[in-house]
Amino acid sequence: MSFLANRMTQIVPSPIMAMVARANALAEAGRSIIDLGIGEPDFPTVESAKRAGIAAIENDKTGYTPSAGIRELRQAIVSKFWRENGVAYNLDQIHVAAGGKQAIFNAMLATVDAGDEVIVPAPYWASYPDIVRIAGGTPVILTCHADHGFKLQPEALERAITPRTKWFVLNSPSNPTGAAYSERELRALAAVLLNHPHVHVLADDMYEHLVFGTFQFRTMAWAEPKLYPRTLIVNGVSKAYSMTGWRLGFAGGTSELIRAMNSIQGHSTTHPSSITQAAATAALTGPQDDLPLRRKIFEARRDYIVKRLNAMSHISCTAPEGAFYVYPSVGEALGHVAPGGKVIETDTDLCAYLLEHAGVSTVPGSGFGLSPFIRISYAASERALEEACDRIEAALAALQRSS
Ligand SMILES: Cc1ncc(COP(=O)(O)O)c(C=O)c1O
Repeated sequence: MSFLANRMTQIVPSPIMAMVARANALAEAGRSIIDLGIGEPDFPTVESAKRAGIAAIENDKTGYTPSAGIRELRQAIVSKFWRENGVAYNLDQIHVAAGGKQAIFNAMLATVDAGDEVIVPAPYWASYPDIVRIAGGTPVILTCHADHGFKLQPEALERAITPRTKWFVLNSPSNPTGAAYSERELRALAAVLLNHPHVHVLADDMYEHLVFGTFQFRTMAWAEPKLYPRTLIVNGVSKAYSMTGWRLGFAGGTSELIRAMNSIQGHSTTHPSSITQAAATAALTGPQDDLPLRRKIFEARRDYIVKRLNAMSHISCTAPEGAFYVYPSVGEALGHVAPGGKVIETDTDLCAYLLEHAGVSTVPGSGFGLSPFIRISYAASERALEEACDRIEAALAALQRSS
């Protein structure tokens, strides 16, 4: 009998981490590796946050804070939700945690009982199903196909709802596809949810600032205000302000739910670092001019990578509305033979081939619940992207039809 808890049998090791580990091993062995597997901006943390973090240390703001977070930060989050999303919260409706991931974790632990179902559209951010399982619930995965832009269709949502459905997870713009739901698309999903008052919405808006062209980001509680009382908005500073390592995420919801999430956190990490809280307050209240500049850079990179990929053999890619990922189909590459004789049978095989043969790290769609696709992060410099595209192009061109 294993010493480990039964729940450990349910958790799938992250394919991203496996890819990162192999890429690191190759890099340490002296290979030139271009990392398009990671999910973090390649920009430094915004200046206001850096300075506030340093000041917090110098001014000895280094003791415990309330587990709900410091008042200034919660106030900054209240203002952010109102200013950017048109959603009104009081201070006691705000939760701060060590990353959006922990906020989701706290929400699931606070609400999910054994047998409860959580609807997760696929392709999904790999942590959702595992967080649900750790909390004792059952993830209900709904596949969203490329011909619908990887977006959940209202009829599929309707069919999936049961009396045990507790949450519907809505991640827009999406990791891994970059797909984002328009106001009209949100309303169509909301129309279904209005008929099922027991279903709550977890709106993961982590990439809200990264939407391109004329696309307007909207959050569900704004698009359908009747859902406000049963929506938890999760967001954070990781992607918008390049603060992934600082670990600060936040959520807005009913005061009952937020109290429960604070209570769970009070018995685990207590609160995010006091220094990080000061830095995040400055990021949210300081100058915001980096956001549109960075968005423009990401948009140009998206356009570049989509164009390059579509000019290659065995791969095809639609242009997503947001985030910094593309999710090209690699179905045409399957069944082909790599130099050396290995047959590429899955998207995992293709990613391994691109890493070993071309020195480019990507992540297989199998880790996000939809194959045969790969996720490419374009949070990398223009030079790195160009070089990576050249290498992928050559590697794909080297695949031979199997005889
Ligand atoms: C969709 C999505 N949600 C939440 C997170 C969590 O971000 P963090 O815990 O860094 O705030 C991530 C990070 O990759 C993400 O991609």
